[in-house]
Amino acid sequence: MTGLAVLGTQWGDEGKGKLVDFLAEDAKAIVRFQGGDNAGHTVKIGPETFKLHILPSGILRKGKLAIVGNGVIVNPKVLIEEIDGLEKRGISCAGLRISDRTHLIMPYHVMLDGAEERLKAGKNVGTTGRGIGPCYSDKIARVGIRMCDLIDEKVFRDKLRFAIDLKNRIFKAYGMEQQLSYEAVAKEYLAYGKRLGKYITDTGAILRKLDERNSKILFEGAQGSLLDIDYGTYPYVTSSNTIAGNISNGSGVPPGSIDGIIGIAKAYTTRVGSGPFPTELPEREGVALAKAGGEFGTTTGRMRRCGWLDLVVVSHAVRLSGIDSIGLTKMDVLGTMGKLRICDRYRLDGKMIRDFPASLEALARCEPVYSEFGSWGEVSESMIEKLKKKGKSGLPIEIKQYIGHIEKSLGIPVSAIGLGKERDRTIVLRNIWPK
Ligand code: GDP
Ligand code: IMO
Ligand code: MG
Repeated sequence: MTGLAVLGTQWGDEGKGKLVDFLAEDAKAIVRFQGGDNAGHTVKIGPETFKLHILPSGILRKGKLAIVGNGVIVNPKVLIEEIDGLEKRGISCAGLRISDRTHLIMPYHVMLDGAEERLKAGKNVGTTGRGIGPCYSDKIARVGIRMCDLIDEKVFRDKLRFAIDLKNRIFKAYGMEQQLSYEAVAKEYLAYGKRLGKYITDTGAILRKLDERNSKILFEGAQGSLLDIDYGTYPYVTSSNTIAGNISNGSGVPPGSIDGIIGIAKAYTTRVGSGPFPTELPEREGVALAKAGGEFGTTTGRMRRCGWLDLVVVSHAVRLSGIDSIGLTKMDVLGTMGKLRICDRYRLDGKMIRDFPASLEALARCEPVYSEFGSWGEVSESMIEKLKKKGKSGLPIEIKQYIGHIEKSLGIPVSAIGLGKERDRTIVLRNIWPK
């Protein structure tokens, strides 16, 4: 197979969905390998906007396989709503395949996510409230329930009875009044199983067949490297590995199947939820950038915190995943922001550092060191036409300087830039699919 991965290099919402949709044209299958419906991937096609949470963004292209790999966790209720929503809009989900090893997000996971966030008081993570942490915890604690269980009533009832008993005790210990009824959850979920049964299969076997036929496979990352459970700003992270190392675990292909990785970076930095953020702008400027860029969470609607491009962050991602090139999005938004800044090192306790620190206390003491750049103003239709004809040489000098600095600092090329939300507003500067 030819495997290409699209990964987020910051704190998520870099524009992965848009690039996946763009690159999916040439792929046979598009595979999600981690995360759940905490992801929110936006794709704009003509006048229509799609927000995808569990379904791979490739579902929007006809005739593709859209694979939900074993490393994803699935809330079946949300997935069914997503399928119904797309089919109502004339998008077929016939290409969907869900791994029978995928873990299920259960109602108690969502309840515990909320309860634990409340109990953490001032130290809460600011999760999406989708039950992600509790579901992955159960997977690791070996008390999770999987898709293959959902389609086997006896096994499902056994596992659920045990789980509900356990969780009802935890609710009591947490001082929560609510108790779940085993029968009600069983009835609800078994109905979901009936509905989803036709999509549930051994997706690893499908990928191995595609490998034998040398097909092109696109792996769609969710979240971003700084939300990775091991390498992100722990504990202000998500509960899965978001970096390239997890593609193999989460989809069942050997590690050598990944031939190329494009890292998606927003031309500036955003994050939702809590945790230190060295290049964060002061509130007034941050809100202005959030408004200019429409920076409101796709899943929760929360306003994203905004700051300058931080190459200490992006280079951490590049090194962890072996990223070959960068897809730089939202250049149209940044171009209107006046004098621009890029950070490529931090000053920590009087010393210059380029490695992203593990300790959040150290990170909070890091002062970003900036270089300044001129902006390129609004992106016009004539600029887009020129770029489509002339490629890289048609770029305004200010954009050349901005991306030149990024390429030099990271040691890898920028292979695509985003100049708008629309599918045709992605300008390819060099080949992205590996040969
Ligand atoms: P994802 O989670 O990485 O897929 O990103 P989101 O969809 O959550 O957030 C990215 C937002 O930026 C979406 O609203 C996209 O439509 C939008 N977007 C992506 N690329 C560009 C771009 O180059 N320019 C502009 N203006 N918007 C973009
Ligand atoms: P996409 O795929 C941005 C953030 C949450 C919170 C932290 C933990 O659209 O880029 P969780 O619900 O996962 O336990 O929340 O991670 N977060 C995201 N931020 N984009 C995402 O996904 C995110 N998924 C989770 O805001 O800070
Ligand atoms: Mg998103």
